Amino acid sequence: MGIKRKDESKPETKIKLRGKPVSASRSEMTEIVLPAMTNPLGKLLGGQVMHLVDMAAALAAHRHSNSYVVTASVDYIDFRNAVNLGEIVTLKSQVNRVFHTSMEVGVEVYSDNVLRGERKHTTTAYVTFVAIDEHTRKPKLVPPLILKTAAERKRYREAAERRKTRLALRYGK
Ligand SMILES: CC(C)(COP(=O)(O)OP(=O)(O)OC[C@H]1O[C@@H](n2cnc3c(N)ncnc32)[C@H](O)[C@@H]1OP(=O)(O)O)[C@@H](O)C(=O)NCCC(=O)NCCS
Repeated sequence: MGIKRKDESKPETKIKLRGKPVSASRSEMTEIVLPAMTNPLGKLLGGQVMHLVDMAAALAAHRHSNSYVVTASVDYIDFRNAVNLGEIVTLKSQVNRVFHTSMEVGVEVYSDNVLRGERKHTTTAYVTFVAIDEHTRKPKLVPPLILKTAAERKRYREAAERRKTRLALRYGK
C-alpha cells in the first residue's frame, strides 16, 4: 500500500541524517501506585496506564529524534493483569522503527509487588510520534534507526505491518 502524504514534495525528505542505535533512546519510567491513581477496588485506572504509556513512549521518541514530538496515534492497548495499589509500575520503551517524520515506539508495562517479590507483565502498547520542528512547528525528518539484535530486527519488521493498518484507518485506504 502506498503511503499517502499531504505533501510529497517536502524538501526535507532529501536530507540525510546520521543513524542512531535503539539503545541510545531506550527508556524506563517507574511509579508507585497511590490511592488517587486507583479505582474503588484499588486497581490502577486504565486512563492512568494510558497516560504513563504515552509519557514513557514520548521519552524514547524525544531522545531518538532530539526533537519535540507529538503523539499521532496509539494502537490497541489491552490490560492483561491489573496493577494494585502500592505496587510499583515500570514502563520500558524503545523505538521499533523510524519511517520519515514519524516513529513507532513499543512500550512494555510491568507491575512489581515488592512484598511478595512478584513481577507481572500487564500491558503492551505501540505509540506513533511525529517529530516537530521547533521553529516551523511542522513535521521534520527523524534519524534512521540502527538495528543490532535479532529482536530489534523482528520488531522493525512487525512495525511495518502495524503502520499499514493505522494509516489505512487514518487516511481511509
Ligand atoms: C500527527 C500530525 C503531526 C500529522 O500531521 P499531518 O499534517 O497529517 O502530517 P503528514 O500527513 O505529513 O504526516 C506526518 C507523519 O505522520 C504520520 N501519521 C499521520 N497520522 C498518523 C497516524 N494516525 N498514525 C501513525 N502515523 C501517522 C504520517 O504517516 C507521516 O509519517 P512519515 O513522515 O513518517 O511518513 C498532526 O495530525 C497533528 O499535529 N495531530 C495532533 C497531535 C496531537 O495533538 N497529539 C497529542 C498531544 S502530543
